[in-house]
Amino acid sequence: MNYMKKVILSGIQATGNLTLGNYVGALKNFVKMQDEYECYYMIANLHALTVRRTPEELRENTMKIIATYISAGIDPEKSTIFIQSMVPDHAELGWILDCYTYMGELSRMTQFKDKSSKHADNINAGLFTYPVLMAGDILLYGADVVPVGEDQKQHLEITRDIADRFNKLYGDTFKIPEPFIPKTGARIMGLQNPNSKMSKSSTIPNDTIFLVDTPDEITKKIKKAITDSEGIIRYDEENKPGVSNLMSIYGIIKNKQMDEIEKEFEGKNYGVFKEEVAKAIIEELEPFQNKYNELLNNRDYLEKIYTEGSKKAHEKARTTLEEVYKKVGLII
Ligand code: TRP
Repeated sequence: MNYMKKVILSGIQATGNLTLGNYVGALKNFVKMQDEYECYYMIANLHALTVRRTPEELRENTMKIIATYISAGIDPEKSTIFIQSMVPDHAELGWILDCYTYMGELSRMTQFKDKSSKHADNINAGLFTYPVLMAGDILLYGADVVPVGEDQKQHLEITRDIADRFNKLYGDTFKIPEPFIPKTGARIMGLQNPNSKMSKSSTIPNDTIFLVDTPDEITKKIKKAITDSEGIIRYDEENKPGVSNLMSIYGIIKNKQMDEIEKEFEGKNYGVFKEEVAKAIIEELEPFQNKYNELLNNRDYLEKIYTEGSKKAHEKARTTLEEVYKKVGLII
């Protein structure tokens, strides 16, 4: 029964090619949650405007994320896949919530500080109010749970603060969402720099596995991944970040706990272990890539999915937005 199910909303920004980190950290969880929850999975293309890119790039990236969602196993029959810009309620609620958010709290956001130092020539107001638009995304659907990476935790906290502030002023309106940050796999680290998150924008060669990498590229990158001189496959994030990271990747794909992996590779060397990790990734990504390429060649199907999804999302979002308009005294 749908009305009994708790609601999940999450989104991925329409930027560049996704990485193995996005796949095991986010997408695998999105897929797992589809049966238990009423799920809304969004392509955050309004958020993507905060960084300059060409219109063609933005359009193409949006299609790629839709294809990625479906290829990773999100079933459009079970979950609602939609595009943020096709549901006008997001931009509308974003504005309203801007008026209930303080400059002080926004200037404490670490992602804003990071991004404004990376894009010093384009510190636009959208970059600053980015978390408010995200709060709107979540609150429109009455999401109970928001699966996100560790780096988005602060944005969830500000969402809760904004919702609570609004509720105190106007009476119960918004559900206060909980973040869901999976323990392992929440942070897949760079292969060359295992102390920072695997990122599509990493400038270090061989640091990132992209979901569209060929088997040869994957094998090469895993072979070159940083380990340590101990020669033992053992989980110890602090002292063995490289090996631990490879174990996390392997564990998520194979559905194995760290102690099981330690046993499996007892007495084996890093070369053998790496071969198995690469094999696991390649086997996991092969069906994904086949589906992905097929979908990108079937634009009519993609259009059908996001049009239907966005219509469904809009119906749900509109109810919340109208309540908000009425409560604050806007005429609609
Ligand atoms: N800010 C998120 C990220 O960069 C993407 C995002 C936008 C999002 N809106 C959201 C995630 C709402 C969860 C819920 O990863």
